[in-house]
Formats: sequence, structure tokens, C-alpha cells
Amino acid sequence: MQGILDRRLIVVTGKGGVGKTTIAAALGLLAAQSGRRTLVVEFGAQARLAGLFGRPAQQTGEETWLAERLSSISIDPDKALLEWIQALGGRVSGRVLASSGTFQYFAAAAPGAREIVSMVKIWKLTGGRSGRGRRGEHDLVILDAPATGHALGMLRSPETFGKIARVGPIVRDTGHVRELLADPARSAYVAVAQGTEMAVTETIELQGGLRDALGRDLAGVVVNGLLPRRFSAVEMESIEGLAERERAKARGNGASRALAGAAARAAREVHGRASFQHGQVTRLRKRGFEVLGLPFLWQSELDLEALSVLAARLGRGVEREQARVS
Ligand SMILES: Nc1ncnc2c1ncn2[C@@H]1O[C@H](COP(=O)(O)OP(=O)(O)O)[C@@H](O)[C@H]1O
Ligand SMILES: [Mg+2]
Repeated sequence: MQGILDRRLIVVTGKGGVGKTTIAAALGLLAAQSGRRTLVVEFGAQARLAGLFGRPAQQTGEETWLAERLSSISIDPDKALLEWIQALGGRVSGRVLASSGTFQYFAAAAPGAREIVSMVKIWKLTGGRSGRGRRGEHDLVILDAPATGHALGMLRSPETFGKIARVGPIVRDTGHVRELLADPARSAYVAVAQGTEMAVTETIELQGGLRDALGRDLAGVVVNGLLPRRFSAVEMESIEGLAERERAKARGNGASRALAGAAARAAREVHGRASFQHGQVTRLRKRGFEVLGLPFLWQSELDLEALSVLAARLGRGVEREQARVS
């Protein structure tokens, strides 16, 4: 993942619930701490980042200040499309348009329209046409994208929509989006997964989809929520042995026998889950993915301190890569 913070756009996606928003926020924090003016874009009507940073959320489409050099904004695809149609239609009011059926008609008739209009907004946030040389208002935009399938739909939207729109400014902007998404010097893709069969399978599918749609590869996979491997195989054997000896004692104390059994079961459970997760990491590495593991943090709500821990881990991963390259 070396160098990803120097791109203009990082797209973070993966299976639902694996920690995409958390990782997008932690990457944002890392980038801001390293001096980059960073914007995290939330997609959809949600605005969770402000809460994570303990700040009041602004309205959709307005930037929320999160920390030094770090802010967030949320893009609502329906609202973005509505604004765009309004701009085309001149003075028609948004309310009339939204209720007139024209909007629903258009949205249904133009596949990829919501997505491309949102992607154009994101391209503009990366600095738009000033993107190549001079930097815009932000050095880096991190997109907290929807889950894999929908994210791929967004990334394919220049093509999907390009097939039906042949004239007007949207065609030119569609080209800019396509260039940004295809350019390894300006954009990077990061998958978030967990150490589960399904999340890893979805990551592999994501990589295939990215190649098909844009000829791009994932810069890396963040495997989030890993449990530590507390015991070695040898230690596990001795734990089982201890419980076995306790069980075998003819005149042993019933309570301590039960306790030894329960302790061995708990150790077996933790060991089994951690081993399974690490097996999934190996599965990804064998396929050639660069994997960065992040620990499961034992707290009910993640806060700024937790994000800082994750950001520091991400930073170490990126630096280690840099060290290996140089
Ligand atoms: N490393 C972690 N340790 C503990 N909890 C985590 C970790 N990463 C994410 N979470 C929690 O898991 C839940 C889902 O994370 P979120 O980032 O919202 O996932 P997504 O955006 O993929 O749906 C949230 O409650 C979040 O606080
Ligand atoms: Mg999310």
C-alpha cells in the first residue's frame, strides 16, 4: 500500500459491516496527521463520521470539520441527481421536480445516472480539472464507498451511463471520472475484509470486478478485527493436558475439575477463532494480495482514541512497505 496517501482519491470498499467507515476514517486521520488536507466522503444519506469524531454533523453536501486538516462530507445520490436534473431544466423547483414523477422516471430510465452524478461530484472534490498539476482544496479524498457490488456499480457508472448519454457537459465529466478511476497515479483501491470465509471471498470477487471494469488492482486488503493468537499449538496441547489431568484425578475436587474444563474450552474457542482468521489472511496472501491486519478493539463504541490506534497501525504498515521498497 506504499504511496497510497499521495494519490488524489482512495476508494475504500468491501463487504457490509466489515469496518469500511472505520478504516476510511482511520486512513483519513493518518493522512491528516502526515500533513495532507484530507476529505472523507460518506456515500448515501448517512453521516457517521462526525459522531466518530465527537462532532455535530452538518447537512448532506456540507463539509464537517473533524480534526486538523481533516473534514468529511456526505453525498446523497438521489439529491445529487435531483440537483443535476434541476440544473438541466433551468428554473424548475426541486420540490416540484421531486414530486412530478419526472425524477423517478428519469432515475429509472437512466441506469447509472445517480452513480455518475455522484462520481462527478467526487471528481470535483479531488480538484477537478486542476487535478493533474495544481492541487485543489484537498490533497486527498477518501471515499467511504458502499459495499462491494454497489461500489463496483459506481465505478462502472462512466461506462454504464456513457452508453446512454452522448451530448452535454455530463459526457465530458464522465470522461474525467473514467480517467481518474483508471489512473494508478491518481487513484487507489483498498478493500476491507474480516477474517471470515465470506468477506475474503467477496474481496477476491472485488479484485476481479475492478480488473474487468477498470483494469485496476487492489492496492491492499485491510483485514479488520483480528483476534490475537494467544497460544501456540504446543501451549494449547499443555492446556488440554492440564484439563485432562484434572478430569482424571480420582479424588479430585469437582469445582476445580469443572473450572479446568471451562478454561480449556474457552482457550480452545479463542485459539480456534484466531487460527481460522489467520488462515483467511494466509488465503489472501497466497493469492498475492498485500494484507494489513488490524486488531479487534474491545470496546462497545469506537472513539477517536480507537481510531488513532488503528491509524497508527495502518501507518506502520505503509511505512514498512516503503522501507522494503527503498
Ligand atoms: N477493529 C475494530 N474493533 C472493534 N470494533 C470495530 C472495529 N472496526 C469496526 N468496528 C465496529 O464494527 C461496526 C461496523 O463498522 P463500520 O466501520 O461501520 O463498518 P461498515 O462501514 O463496513 O459497515 C461498528 O460498530 C464499528 O465500531
Ligand atoms: Mg459504513
